[in-house]
Amino acid sequence: MDLTKSDDENFDYLYKVVVTGDSGVGKTNIITRFTTNEFHMENKATIGVEFGHAEVVLTDNTKIKVQIWDTAGQERFRAITRGYYRGAVAALVVYDITKAATFRNVEKWLQELQTHADPDIVIMLVGNKSDLKAQREVATDDAKRFAEKNKLLYIETSALDGENIKEAFHRTVAATKDVQDKKARDRQQQTDENTGTGSKEAPSGQTKTIKLENQQTSQPEKPVKGGCKC
Ligand code: GTP
Ligand code: MG
Repeated sequence: MDLTKSDDENFDYLYKVVVTGDSGVGKTNIITRFTTNEFHMENKATIGVEFGHAEVVLTDNTKIKVQIWDTAGQERFRAITRGYYRGAVAALVVYDITKAATFRNVEKWLQELQTHADPDIVIMLVGNKSDLKAQREVATDDAKRFAEKNKLLYIETSALDGENIKEAFHRTVAATKDVQDKKARDRQQQTDENTGTGSKEAPSGQTKTIKLENQQTSQPEKPVKGGCKC
């Protein structure tokens, strides 16, 4: 597994990933830890939406450019941030393991995604601030159970010490590629059936995955604040 930030435009797929969750759970720091290896101790709430990017190289050497949309957790930005969910192939829904209320609110963030994002979006539930062990309010087992029940991936991270940050993005991207590949195979099969070409049971190796950068990734205007931070 290799995860690197790169300006190299030579990539196989482009995935839009949104990061949501209550204000203060650490979304911005998870992203900056991943994209630029930075962490900021001071609390500086995101205004609207910010944008970053990184490259993920999967074990089969597929290069995926990940557009990461960092949304504000504060309620007053909700109408703006939900406009950025469309076209996202994956989401990280983040809570703070030291604040039970942020875990309870995950349900609300999932509803937001259900209403405003694409139906086959891959969702990773992220319990952040795992370094604050003594202040833990959300048991790992409870979060795991919740994730299983809601068909979410699950991981605990620390943006402070970097624990599992790369893994969170890597696992999300790998799972997303599986979903997108399957969608492409299904589309191909549907086309074959409609045109009467190809066998109904086309072996997966013979189908061609449609690359995402050739599709229109719908994004509303421009990020409300800042440009690419990378
Ligand atoms: P909004 O932009 O308001 O939605 O908040 P956010 O989710 O982006 O949170 P942000 O990344 O700004 O972090 C909030 C506070 O938590 C900051 O003071 C960070 O330093 C701190 N923080 C973030 N991640 C961690 C972590 O993993 N461990 C610890 N101990 N503190 C963290
Ligand atoms: Mg933020």
